[in-house]
Amino acid sequence: MTDTHFENWRIEARQLLQKGIAPSDTYWENNPTFLESDESNLKPLLSPQVPPEFFELAQFVACARDENRWSLLYRIIYRLNHENKNLLKVSVDPDVHRANELAKSVRRDIHKMHAFVRFKKIDIEGVETYIAWHKAEHLIVELGTPFFMRRFGDKPWSIFTPDASAHWDLKTLTFAEGIPQHEFQHRDQFDEVWKTYYKSIFNPARLKIKMMKAEMSPKYWSSMPEAEIIHDLIRNTPLRLQNMANAPKFKAEVPENVSWQDLKKAALKCKACPLAAHATQTVFGEGNLEAELMIIGEQPGDEEDLNGQVFVGPAGKILADALQKANVSRESIYITNAVKHFKFTQTDNRRVHQKAKGSEMQACKPWLEAEIARVKPKVIIALGTTAATAIYGRLLKIKDERGKAYVDSRLAKSLFVSWHPAAILRASSIEEQISRQNELAIDIAQAMNATKV
Ligand code: URA
Ligand code: SF4
Repeated sequence: MTDTHFENWRIEARQLLQKGIAPSDTYWENNPTFLESDESNLKPLLSPQVPPEFFELAQFVACARDENRWSLLYRIIYRLNHENKNLLKVSVDPDVHRANELAKSVRRDIHKMHAFVRFKKIDIEGVETYIAWHKAEHLIVELGTPFFMRRFGDKPWSIFTPDASAHWDLKTLTFAEGIPQHEFQHRDQFDEVWKTYYKSIFNPARLKIKMMKAEMSPKYWSSMPEAEIIHDLIRNTPLRLQNMANAPKFKAEVPENVSWQDLKKAALKCKACPLAAHATQTVFGEGNLEAELMIIGEQPGDEEDLNGQVFVGPAGKILADALQKANVSRESIYITNAVKHFKFTQTDNRRVHQKAKGSEMQACKPWLEAEIARVKPKVIIALGTTAATAIYGRLLKIKDERGKAYVDSRLAKSLFVSWHPAAILRASSIEEQISRQNELAIDIAQAMNATKV
């Protein structure tokens, strides 16, 4: 990743500089790796000879797609130390000129990213997630994407480029590998959804047609499916303004610093989202309040709704079986759901489960967070994509992610995902059902083991 590379470059450069090694004696790989170093012996690099402006400039230069950037930066920092501490002011100097040129090009590229990234909404089992594919000229994912966190911080999103990807889970922005364009499978099939999303984020209060035309140069329009709906959007502005003002925002209000019992009492009264209106009752989590392992399901089912307890229906039987196979007692753990009210449609003779919407999940998330904060489990295992999205904040496939520990989380020491019992019940063949059932037991056992390390 760019930042890491820059950090590695800094460490390397600092050592070389202190040994007085001339730029012509250094060789910089395209992506500097961290060689052996003893940081504690090193003096800070930010000496008077290295003005802060250098780092401002360098962070942009470091993102340039130019294989000479690292040697250029070393040359400049060396010359700042040995030749002229005001070198950066000499804009006609070929090194300074080149660095300024690269930095300018990177800045322009970041600006373009901000202007032209288009998210597509995808619904992953009821959780709204936004994804975008962008092809940048430079390596700007780490420098360019925090902007989207500030702008669209209330939605989970991922931005993919061929070089790297950025993922916002409503709490942290993380970076991972990129994907080649041809693998961006959602590219075309979501254009309709993309348009809808564009409508939903389009902010008529800030609508300035002239500015929009200037910013969105027509040469980009052909690749932007929303360009064709701009016309409609402009026409509908006053109505959309009204609608925006009336749009409800749901969020459970969770009392702070109260006991688990009081937390549950408050949750039983929660009507923060529309789900409360149809369900029988809030089904709050339950179990060992000192548990080291927490299991998170999706939402109560029909029986749980009538009973007021988690996992007591058919899915509960599957879970009980897996717990037994994993040799984990239900009394030792804490079990809850990402959403606390049953969502269903009524048919003639039964209530059919429906996925909660992203907004409902978001509304309910404070309860889950409060449970996690109270129980402080060492390990969490999320069953199914709804629960997984609630704790990872991003889309993932259970098939690909089960069995892996995710350790970079504020919620617990490690996070795991596995099959939801309902997905086991729904498996397309008996073989698949059996193998998923086994995998659920294996995954629970693995998560339990992780509490002991
Ligand atoms: N499915 C869940 O995810 N949770 C329950 O409590 C019951 C069924
Ligand atoms: Fe409150 Fe969650 Fe129930 Fe919505 S689903 S009313 S947020 S407890």
